[in-house]
Amino acid sequence: MSETSPIRKIGVLTSGGDAPGMNAAIRAVIRTAMSEKLLAVGIYHGYKGLINKEFAPMFGYSVADIIHRGGTILKTSRCPEFKTNEGLDKAYQNLSDEGIDGLVVIGGDGTFRGALALHKRHPDIRIVGLPGTIDNDLFGTDFTIGYDTAINTVVQAVDKIRDTAGSHGTLFFVEVMGRDAGFIALNSGIATGAEDILIPETETKIDSLIAKLEYDQRKHKTWGIIIVAEGDELGGATKVAEMVKEKLPGYETRVTILGHVQRGGSPSCNDRVLATRLGYAGVKALLEGEDCVMMGMMNDKVVHVPFEKATKNHQQIDKSLIEVAKIMAL
Ligand code: ADP
Ligand code: F6P
Repeated sequence: MSETSPIRKIGVLTSGGDAPGMNAAIRAVIRTAMSEKLLAVGIYHGYKGLINKEFAPMFGYSVADIIHRGGTILKTSRCPEFKTNEGLDKAYQNLSDEGIDGLVVIGGDGTFRGALALHKRHPDIRIVGLPGTIDNDLFGTDFTIGYDTAINTVVQAVDKIRDTAGSHGTLFFVEVMGRDAGFIALNSGIATGAEDILIPETETKIDSLIAKLEYDQRKHKTWGIIIVAEGDELGGATKVAEMVKEKLPGYETRVTILGHVQRGGSPSCNDRVLATRLGYAGVKALLEGEDCVMMGMMNDKVVHVPFEKATKNHQQIDKSLIEVAKIMAL
């Protein structure tokens, strides 16, 4: 099939960590496909379902009443077999047998790396990607689907923790997700007035944190919130709390690990709209002959970002935000 061959049947899957808004994205893909008179197939459990041929036809009504639901109706997985040539060949054979000539993958950078691997071995299936991850670390898009919901979940939780922290005079170390990225930590930290925010992108100086807490203690302020991204190089909230307690035993400390609560829940308005716009754009891009590109949103405009670029680079933290956060915590 040449690059300009018409697309007749598309497949859609979700892969990697789930994110609120994935369902809204699936809905947008299917409804746009229907409006273009395409056939559509839902592929269950991400790349695992591609290899095991977990396919089901989808129609406009298949995606009714899902725009407000977290998780993914197509389920997701992490699939080591897809990293092997045998796995890629099985997946390709299943796609060919089913007559699928266009694929929409919704996930993070790992998912796009998988799509690239499939393309390199079997270039005749056109693939587009939608950025679905709460981490917001994908290069080429201002926001990823799920991030807005996740930070709002964190803000709601931390506001509640602050109530009890203030009542008891306790210092809380709240760990948020972000194995490699500090977007959730930085922005939720600013929004909740955190006393400090520890992220993997900047070196965490424990001595500076101790000095600040000593200063607060002298002023009889012993409560507060320290947001710690799980990927911080010091080793997460439990470790940081231990280090602080050792140097400042007078502090009453607690650790809260928010964990997977951040990945669930009904998507925010922003995530629903983002997912819908990118899902629509993804199908249109396939029809225009695009291949191996991620749909991104930059300055409120849809952009097409080659998978190569999206996977080789990381979205950078805006350093000025770190400064803002520091000033607010003085
Ligand atoms: P995310 O998409 O959220 O970053 P992962 O990193 O777990 O999640 O990637 C999702 C899946 O993509 C992996 O389980 C694997 O099946 C596939 N994948 C990731 N990297 C590659 C690769 N280099 N080659 C083939 N498949 C890959
Ligand atoms: O979805 C991304 C992410 O939330 C990371 O921030 C986190 O480290 C990871 O997923 C954990 O996912 P799992 O528990 O599924 O391995």
